[in-house]
Amino acid sequence: MPPTSIFSGTVLFQFFNLTTSFTEPNFSPFSSCDGTFSCGNIHSLSYPFTGGNQPDHCGPPEFHLSCVRNSYPKLTVNSVVYRVLEVNLTGTSLVLARSDLWNNTCPTKFLNFSLDPNIFYSDNGQNVDLTIFYGCSSSPVLVQQQNRFYCDVGGVDLTDSFFIIGEVPIDSIRNGVTVPFLINVGAELNRSLLPLAEALMRGFEVVYSDPYGDRCDECGRLDGELGYSDT
Ligand SMILES: *[C@@H]1O[C@H](CO)[C@@H](O)[C@H](O)[C@H]1NC(C)=O
Ligand SMILES: *[C@@H]1O[C@H](CO)[C@@H](O)[C@H](O)[C@H]1NC(C)=O
Ligand SMILES: *[C@@H]1O[C@H](CO)[C@@H](O)[C@H](O)[C@H]1NC(C)=O
Ligand SMILES: *[C@@H]1O[C@H](CO)[C@@H](O)[C@H](O)[C@H]1NC(C)=O
Repeated sequence: MPPTSIFSGTVLFQFFNLTTSFTEPNFSPFSSCDGTFSCGNIHSLSYPFTGGNQPDHCGPPEFHLSCVRNSYPKLTVNSVVYRVLEVNLTGTSLVLARSDLWNNTCPTKFLNFSLDPNIFYSDNGQNVDLTIFYGCSSSPVLVQQQNRFYCDVGGVDLTDSFFIIGEVPIDSIRNGVTVPFLINVGAELNRSLLPLAEALMRGFEVVYSDPYGDRCDECGRLDGELGYSDT
């Protein structure tokens, strides 16, 4: 066992290349974490992102992606699945879209936004909220006719469905879902330049932050390797 963890009760291990001071072969359990994850149009993702064949201990579970039919990566958070449309490692931002609402205005289940704002922060000035109400005859605010649509959810006819861009009184969200939207997409939608189903495929931006990041910086400074363990 390498003896060099300097953090007590920490989730990150450190391994140093002290080749001269060990008689045993220099072994790191994170050597299988070398390499990057690519899927569809998204290439060469590295820590904190992991995916594909990389074992779970290569990065925090919050950033674990899987590749859907070799065409796009997905991120699953509290049973809500998000398609990853863009990743900007420099700007530490992602563009995500809800899988259940991909080209689909009538999901079979109503799932709220589920991302932890401490890790995936969407209130960064790039997005506006869109709230979709299903089967509601009354609305907390005036709804324009072009924002109303027909929805058949699992054989139940929810004729009175509509969406509202921007803030709505939070108490009024019952049969509804709230998703963030890119501001420019919201503006196009509001001006009826874009159908709702298409707008839902443009996604929203989140700024991500690795909750274990400061420990990683320390580790990198000490020339260690990065990995993750929940113990
Ligand atoms: C990535 O983010 C940085 C910093 O916010 C920004 O300058 C850059 O233009 C972004 N890159 C892309 C491809 O959007
Ligand atoms: C969205 O759905 C419509 C209607 O089912 C279909 O014609 C269109 O090709 C779909 N678009 C995408 C990008 O999947
Ligand atoms: C979504 O969140 C709102 C506000 O917290 C809540 O009132 C509503 O019941 C939630 N909807 C579902 C389907 O969980
Ligand atoms: C949407 O458009 C209406 C009428 O054109 C306007 O009153 C409203 O402020 C707009 N809402 C948003 C969120 O842009």
